[in-house]
Amino acid sequence: MEKKLMFICGSPREAGNTLTVVNWVASAAKEAGASVEIIRADQIGFKERGCIACMGCQKSEHYRCVIKDEASSIVARFPEQDAIIFASPVYFMGLSGQIKILIDRMYSLFKITQDGKQINHPMQNTSFSLIVTSAGAAEHGLNLVTEHVKAIAGFFGKDLKTLAIPHAPIKPGTIVSNSKILESALKFGKELVG
Ligand SMILES: Cc1cc2nc3c(=O)[nH]c(=O)nc-3n(C[C@H](O)[C@H](O)[C@H](O)COP(=O)(O)O)c2cc1C
Repeated sequence: MEKKLMFICGSPREAGNTLTVVNWVASAAKEAGASVEIIRADQIGFKERGCIACMGCQKSEHYRCVIKDEASSIVARFPEQDAIIFASPVYFMGLSGQIKILIDRMYSLFKITQDGKQINHPMQNTSFSLIVTSAGAAEHGLNLVTEHVKAIAGFFGKDLKTLAIPHAPIKPGTIVSNSKILESALKFGKELVG
């Protein structure tokens, strides 16, 4: 059966490094037979600026954020995907704010049992991957982002597949002619489909 891949791109730049690599990875995945959806985090409709810690999701029996906006609808569709691929530039040693406020809404995708000992979630059939780009070397934030998202995947009992692109110049369009990055992106996209 056709694999469903959802990319969440945290860069606000149309011609930026992150979306360029996302498009390369997605095209290879499509070529390998997957259905692909690319969501730009900066274009998602948010009713609130981030999770408001209302705990509505933890009181509800549904795996859905109670805020009625586009971000809730997107996160509620995560369990229907075979893979969620987060993509982010490194911003000040971390994820971009645009993607972080969506990730925080994933609080709605688990329930802690009353005894506090177990976490239930609907992500059994969904894998997590990460595409991360940075201008600096890996130790200037890229490794931190990878560890961060690895911990998020680990919280759901999952591994994380990562495509890390350090030394991606800030000037948009610079990596378009980089055949080495193109090659690793196409390989990564193919591997996502398995
Ligand atoms: C606000 C801001 C903060 C950044 N912080 C870092 C950083 O901490 N470490 C780093 O290596 N690069 C940093 N960069 C560079 C970007 O991560 C890098 O150029 C990235 O590939 C840009 O992605 P984009 O073209 O998709 O927007 C920063 C860029 C911006 C705009």
